[in-house]
Amino acid sequence: MTRPLANRIALVTGASRGIGYATAIALAKRGAHVVAVARTQGGLEELDDEIRKDGGAATLVPLSLTDTDGIARLGGALHERHGKLDILVGNAGVPGPSSPLGHIELKQWTDAFAVNVTANFQLIRCMEPLLKQSDAGRAVFVTSGAASRAAAYLGPYAASKAALETLVRVWANETVSLPLRVNLFSPGPIRTRMRATVFPGEDPMTLDTPDQAAEFIVPMCSPEWTETGKFYEYKTKRLLDFRPPA
Ligand SMILES: NC(=O)c1ccc[n+]([C@@H]2O[C@H](COP(=O)([O-])OP(=O)(O)OC[C@H]3O[C@@H](n4cnc5c(N)ncnc54)[C@H](OP(=O)(O)O)[C@@H]3O)[C@@H](O)[C@H]2O)c1
Repeated sequence: MTRPLANRIALVTGASRGIGYATAIALAKRGAHVVAVARTQGGLEELDDEIRKDGGAATLVPLSLTDTDGIARLGGALHERHGKLDILVGNAGVPGPSSPLGHIELKQWTDAFAVNVTANFQLIRCMEPLLKQSDAGRAVFVTSGAASRAAAYLGPYAASKAALETLVRVWANETVSLPLRVNLFSPGPIRTRMRATVFPGEDPMTLDTPDQAAEFIVPMCSPEWTETGKFYEYKTKRLLDFRPPA
């Protein structure tokens, strides 16, 4: 495979499994140096082995994204080591509880918002200066159809993804005149642990794989991608101006 992303630094959150893992592999295959963030050391090490086998390179960052100071320290470390960031994939997410709103504890709500929203806000704050140092900074955040469906019994997840979408569109509006491009990616149902947790009765073999979805995230990370403030819906393979009504 050619290496069109050689010399580009790509930060991928939630890279220990699922869509983030597959995206990290796909970016590394194109030559990007992947900075892989997640809590699970084993998953990160597996990723590192797979990237090295292919002749690529990664930096592993075992970190909980609820550690907002840790995200700030990561920004400082990237500044010292690389002086820039070319690609940010804000993929990490948690499903939260599957319950009616009235049965959900306040902590379950704040835990879902901490990963799905606040961590991405802190990533924007801490990585924007580095993305501005790139000649073609690209940011992609992974959202969910649950946001516009207002999915019953997935309140914290649906509400936090809706907040993420607005946050990302605000950032796209604020940076529209810069080379930086900021977009959303909605995967739809993909064969991952999160999907199996939320829909245990579903046959996973009927779903697309994380590798298939990752192939559509990669172009949004490339210098050739020109759109900003858009929403890519993987299920329909459509690039939209904003989230359509469910
Ligand atoms: N799969 C689907 O059908 C589907 C559909 C719509 C949207 N999505 C979205 O796609 C994204 C990826 O989900 P997935 O399906 O690939 O799920 P997954 O297999 O459960 O992976 C989630 C990733 O997020 C990381 N993560 C969770 N909490 C974290 C924390 N506190 N700190 C650091 N990393 C954390 C996990 O790493 P650790 O546990 O190692 O920390 C893991 O790498 C999510 O934003 C999800 O909402 C998925």
